[in-house]
Amino acid sequence: MPIESTPAVTTTQTGTPVASDEHSLTVGTDGVTALHDRYLVEKLAQFNRERIPERIVHAKGGGAHGQFVVTGDVSKYTRAAVFQPGAITDTLQRFSSVAGEQGSPDTWRDVRGFSVKFYTTEGNYDIVGNNTPVFFIRDGIKFPDFIHSQKRLPGSGLRDATMQWDFWTLSPESAHQVTYLMGDRGLPVSWRTMPGFGSHTFQWINAEGERFWVKYHFESNQGNVEMDGTEAELIAGGDADHYRRDLYEAIDKGDFPSWNVSVQVMSYEEGKTYRFNPFDVTKVWPHADFPLIPVGVHTLNRNPANFFAEIEQAAFSPSNLVPGIAASPDKMLMARIFSYPDAQRYRVGTNFTQLPVNAPQSPVNNYSADGAARYHFSDATTPNYAPNSLGGPVADAAVAGEGSWENDGSLLQSASALRSEDSDFGQAGTLYREVYDDAAKARFLDTITGAISGVTRPEVTERAIWYWTSVDADLGAKLRVNLALFAAADAVV
Ligand code: HEM
Repeated sequence: MPIESTPAVTTTQTGTPVASDEHSLTVGTDGVTALHDRYLVEKLAQFNRERIPERIVHAKGGGAHGQFVVTGDVSKYTRAAVFQPGAITDTLQRFSSVAGEQGSPDTWRDVRGFSVKFYTTEGNYDIVGNNTPVFFIRDGIKFPDFIHSQKRLPGSGLRDATMQWDFWTLSPESAHQVTYLMGDRGLPVSWRTMPGFGSHTFQWINAEGERFWVKYHFESNQGNVEMDGTEAELIAGGDADHYRRDLYEAIDKGDFPSWNVSVQVMSYEEGKTYRFNPFDVTKVWPHADFPLIPVGVHTLNRNPANFFAEIEQAAFSPSNLVPGIAASPDKMLMARIFSYPDAQRYRVGTNFTQLPVNAPQSPVNNYSADGAARYHFSDATTPNYAPNSLGGPVADAAVAGEGSWENDGSLLQSASALRSEDSDFGQAGTLYREVYDDAAKARFLDTITGAISGVTRPEVTERAIWYWTSVDADLGAKLRVNLALFAAADAVV
């Protein structure tokens, strides 16, 4: 707001002019404070309520508004309006770190969140992914335990290498993601210079009702640029908001970051027989089998005008799907579909979808009503129950069953049926051996040695050596030697 030559009069929240912002109402100059100084009470009470709970994960982040422009033609795979040739859609993106809290340094080694909200003509569509194409676990029931192990000890409130490695090594499906995290990609120099992935497999449905399985890729047009651990630690000490600042300043000076968006597509039938479970979020699909198909370009071009309103209160969710896009039989994804709106009802409030940043740009018609802080209401002539004979909104039976897949069997709690290449360690080994060059391998060994050297229970250290030996035998042997050297050097000091 421009500074006016005659400033506006300060008022209470209900618009009454107030006498002072510097002196409370007292009995005489040094007497007791009057409880009926309603402005003092209101000012302190409002202040006490400024914070909302931080996100249970991905608490530290930043973001910006943007635009997604479709440049390819994937209309034979999906009928979603947002992906039709030439479509242009407003977006909001938030980047984040998984484990840290609101004030945590951006450059601590961690997986980075990569969330995009598309305000489509058919409702909001959210891709809530990460800067890695895989995840640590494959069943949502393990998520709270996983996060507890990465956050803080209940007693001391300290982060703890022993519990991190205890969980990871007892959950060998984490090996692929931990190999990403401990490699160079675990420390991007900025959010602008990292890729993004939808990570899960999603379902696309075309205009004929044909189904496909897809994975999303966001490739940074700024390139993928990483930093080493020493630099990251220095920055963590000097500028905890390094990523947030970098993004804000780039956009502020008109240097708009962008990502090319593409998909890998698998036919519905191949999903049944592919050599590993294509719905397992700990696996990538080989590009040789499923090449990237260009979809469009996503550009960030506008900073938030108010960080709290537009970034902190933003509510991204894998449940925000639109016609032509659906879930897949990925157990993590299905758990997430419950979890996010539940978290947001608690974190932001029952009517969080009515806030401008979360509201769709398309009409909302349903029979939900009232609740705390609701401020959009249907007019009085609209019925508040269904079915009704008063012309209220009617559900569209034609969309019933979209996004389904065949399944059968009795209720059980077990892992998915194994396919021939469903190993926990196979793709982690390939990443280490075939993607990391010698220098990257050496840095990787240093990083895991440093991380495991903080483990205080010998049986967890031994299990960590087993874990990395299972990824690659030579790596495991080198790790054993390195850890012994590290311990010896530590003993001398
Ligand atoms: C079943 C497993 C998971 C559960 C239960 C879960 C739960 C949550 C919850 C409750 C939030 C906070 C939401 C909010 O308060 O607005 C969150 C944030 C987030 N999660 Fe997950 N998560 C899971 C797995 C994943 C996976 C696999 C990914 C990426 C592939 C992911 C990426 C994110 C991101 C990027 C955010 C931050 C969203 C934002 O920017 O506001 N999560 N998660």
